Amino acid sequence: MPNILCIGAGYVGGSTMPIIASHCPEHRFVVVDINEARIAAWQSDQLPIYEPGLDEIVRQTRGKNLFFSTEINRHIAEADIIFVSVNTPTKTFGQGAGRAADLQYWEKTARQILENSTSSKIVVEKSTLPVRTAEAMERILNSNNKGLHFEVLSNPEFLAEGTAVRDMQKPDRVLIGGRETESGQKAVERLVEMYAQWIPRDRILTTNLWSSELSKLVANAFLAQRISSINSISALCEKTEANINEVSAAIAHDERIGRYFLRASVGFGGSCFKKDIMNLVYLCEHYGLPEVAKYWEQVVAMNEYQEARFAANMVTSMFNTVAGKRIALFGAAFKANTNDTRESPALEVCRALLEEQADIVMTDPHAMENACSDLGELAERVTFEIDPYAASRNAHAIAILTEWPQYVELDYERIYHSMVKPAFLFDGRNLLNHKKLYETGFNVYPIGKPPLTRLLHMS
Ligand code: NAD
Ligand code: UGA
Repeated sequence: MPNILCIGAGYVGGSTMPIIASHCPEHRFVVVDINEARIAAWQSDQLPIYEPGLDEIVRQTRGKNLFFSTEINRHIAEADIIFVSVNTPTKTFGQGAGRAADLQYWEKTARQILENSTSSKIVVEKSTLPVRTAEAMERILNSNNKGLHFEVLSNPEFLAEGTAVRDMQKPDRVLIGGRETESGQKAVERLVEMYAQWIPRDRILTTNLWSSELSKLVANAFLAQRISSINSISALCEKTEANINEVSAAIAHDERIGRYFLRASVGFGGSCFKKDIMNLVYLCEHYGLPEVAKYWEQVVAMNEYQEARFAANMVTSMFNTVAGKRIALFGAAFKANTNDTRESPALEVCRALLEEQADIVMTDPHAMENACSDLGELAERVTFEIDPYAASRNAHAIAILTEWPQYVELDYERIYHSMVKPAFLFDGRNLLNHKKLYETGFNVYPIGKPPLTRLLHMS
């Protein structure tokens, strides 16, 4: 039975391995992490991440051909193939701070693999890494005098949180990059065979190492670019009485443009878009391409503008002050169907409103614990309330910041009657029926559409 190890039991390691294990019953999978609490949670009924459909797959595979462990060294020694899915956040210090990827976790892993290996292995980069990282990994691993050979492959992950199970079961593509040597191609073929257990061969793309590493950064940059593009137009819509939903639908009908990732919003969040674009920016600067760097940096700048614009619009609309006013934030997660709050626009809006001395109540069905920890000291100034009705009671305003389907089903008439008047609703996801809300009595501020408010006419 081939032994597969995954180092890093986070969102990626923890959601991909159970699904691969379910399709490859003849392989044995172990997922390890330095975080003991996380491993304990993976071994329990309360998984550390909220991902629809994942519990069921973990229940089916755990204890059969899927195991979670903190015994990293022992499992390295036993493994034939090692996936590395440790975090690669943006550097916060020294050279490249705020842009370059912090590769300390990744490098520690490479050295640990080297120290504990007694046989040759295939090492697979699953984390998102700067182009040409595999070269450094090869240097470290093959610097051994034990006569071992390590073949490094790049197999970036394209799943999105909230739809990870579907994305893994039926991916648009799987990308595998390897060296164009005989042993490199043999290793690539081994991984192809594994994925081919459930993915059609024509969806498994093989490339050279550098194309694979770079494609991951580029895919995220292109996706984020579409959101920033539509968000930039949402600002223009608000000035011209054009409607961003109509503009979005009109351009999406052009098959060359396509319909995905054109939902205007308060901004994109998540642990990867900003980090990966800044990494791309850093690489372009490093390779002497400042114009290319500036082009991509603007995608992030536009996102920051959109978040700031949303919060500023709340303040100006509420008679230029929110100090002491209770404001209910609906949603903390960076998108629906996840408990992840990393880089969540909801937290950005929360910070901006706290700066204005608003009295913030935050609600979210799954992400409050993470929101509380991500807000750090500021969390002390926020009330966390699981019930949206209680959160909005006596509030001056509601801001919809995550597109949880639950929020569509709420009784807004009841909510309206429990709020301070005039009652404001800022829809950062264009999730709700704005006309109906207006008729209920709310002053409604969508994204990229004229506000529906009685107050404007008074001014
Ligand atoms: P994460 O922070 O959720 O998980 C990473 C895990 O690695 C953590 O649990 C951490 O404790 C562990 N770790 C760090 N150093 C370790 C070591 N030396 N030994 C053992 N464990 C170690 O991160 P994530 O969201 O799973 O992302 C991992 C990588 O995958 C990143 O490069 C990210 O860019 C990429 N990625 C993420 C997503 C996503 O949806 N989150 C999607 C595609 C790609
Ligand atoms: C994204 C990519 O979609 C994945 O392919 C990639 O693997 C992953 O990043 C990664 O590398 O981490 P994820 O961040 O989980 O996945 O979620 P997305 O669905 O891409 O949403 C990202 C953000 O953009 C969310 O805040 C979402 O609300 C926002 N968004 C998305 C919009 O504002 N408008 C849209 O039209 C689409």
